[in-house]
Amino acid sequence: MKSFYLTTAIDYANGSPHLGHAYEKILADVISRTKKAMGQPTHFVTGLDEHGQKVQQGAEQEGVEPQSRCDRIAEEFKNLLDKLNISNDDYIRTSETRHKKVVSSILQDLFDRGEIYQAEYSGFYSMRAEQFLQEKDKVDGEWPEIFGEVTEITEKNYFFKLGKYKEWLLQFLEDNPNFILPSHRQNQVVEFLKEPLNDLCISRPKERLTWGIPLPFDKGYVTYVWFDALVNYVTAAGFEEDSFPDFWPADLHVIGKDILAPPHAVYWPIMLKACNLELPKQILAHGWWTSSGAKMSKSTGETVDPLELVNEYGSDVFRYFVMREMKVGQDAEFSLERFESRYRADLGNDLGNLVSRLLHMCTSYFEGIVPEHFSLSEPENVLMSKWEEAKEKSLDLFAQFQFSQGLDELSGFIRSINKYADECLPWKLAKSTEEKDQQNLKTCISTMVEALRLANALLVAVMPEVHTKINERLGLSLTEDWTKDLSWDNRLNGKQLKEKIILFPRK
Ligand code: ME8
Ligand code: MG
Repeated sequence: MKSFYLTTAIDYANGSPHLGHAYEKILADVISRTKKAMGQPTHFVTGLDEHGQKVQQGAEQEGVEPQSRCDRIAEEFKNLLDKLNISNDDYIRTSETRHKKVVSSILQDLFDRGEIYQAEYSGFYSMRAEQFLQEKDKVDGEWPEIFGEVTEITEKNYFFKLGKYKEWLLQFLEDNPNFILPSHRQNQVVEFLKEPLNDLCISRPKERLTWGIPLPFDKGYVTYVWFDALVNYVTAAGFEEDSFPDFWPADLHVIGKDILAPPHAVYWPIMLKACNLELPKQILAHGWWTSSGAKMSKSTGETVDPLELVNEYGSDVFRYFVMREMKVGQDAEFSLERFESRYRADLGNDLGNLVSRLLHMCTSYFEGIVPEHFSLSEPENVLMSKWEEAKEKSLDLFAQFQFSQGLDELSGFIRSINKYADECLPWKLAKSTEEKDQQNLKTCISTMVEALRLANALLVAVMPEVHTKINERLGLSLTEDWTKDLSWDNRLNGKQLKEKIILFPRK
């Protein structure tokens, strides 16, 4: 069976990871865990984009080889994945041999078939910035000081015949209106394609850039940026190996909106088409966290790096926050206040309180053994129908990657469980010796346990550790399978639960 093949952008090895990188990997991880819970095998790949001018310059400034600088940065990014509990199946680095082989092979094939050609390019070049400039780089008609001396130079380079595929791509987008999510982004790509589409320069002469993959047909050049980076997706799928069809085509590329058009929505589909390879099934372009690069300031004047919150609160709280706070596809502003308020309200007051008071009641009234329920009445029926509704809505939203809205449904259900307790008043019933009250108490605890079991099952993808802790208290095995575990069947009646825990201590 073909796996659901899921990728993220591969991060640039020219700095330390930040909130934007963390968010994207969490989003993809939640998608991967969701697919698994829905019974689909997944193959989830992320990695590091290591070549290019900035990486080379960074290494020169530090006085180290680019490879050793990349090795260090790779460790930093991989440590972040561990810290965030990301369950990727592979980590691809573009300096690996497996990747260089695939890039070479694809370049040679495209060159042999005339899809890549050499041509002269002239333009304004800044020695200081080591880059070609465009008219738009001018300020008040002058080249800004930062560029130093700017001269018009002519350089031979290699070009990929992007332009001739424009009509094909427009037709493809028309035939596949759900290729890009959210859909307004697909419209932007169509708009982009209304402008003329130039062929793509894919090389840099070695005199200017050595840190790259050499063109197999001209050793005087290395391949430039996107022709190297995008190919990672087929490398990691085992291009030219027997296992390739188990993974390719990719089911979903998760990326940020800044690298959608043109790289992922124009260059990549055209590169694949020119190589006679299948296109990915879907691209999900998420929005931007604002002020994520900058340090956020606390009201006290202290500053906090969002990633520091993972150390303080643990990965699940952080994962919950970013998934709940950002509507996929839209931008979101990071704020410590919002973070603390989600922690107190959604997690502490709603979920945390439910778990601790329910386990406490079960322990003190029934020695931890979930009682059998008696006849169900209005409050139980209301809660059960709330579950059916929350389940249906959140599964549907999760399937559309709308995790913020799906978690909102789930939070609503958790609040309904607390509300149910406040109506049934089990702590009052426990004090009564009336037979009817004792029966109602049993029904109430049994109902709450079942509702918690179900709500917790839906948390597995976003908060895998909290999910496991709750299951462990409920005496349930740790695997979760939504095709079997989401129906209200009071399966824990008669089972022994463990004592209470505090999941989200007050800070
Ligand atoms: O673009 N909020 O690497 P990168 C949300 N190497 N997402 C953000 C963000 C923010 N503030 N800042 C960055 C590259 N991202 C290339 C990709 S893929 C073949 C090559 C996202 O390190 C960004 O949108 O600059 C991208 O998806 C990812 O982080 C890596 O960005
Ligand atoms: Mg970037």
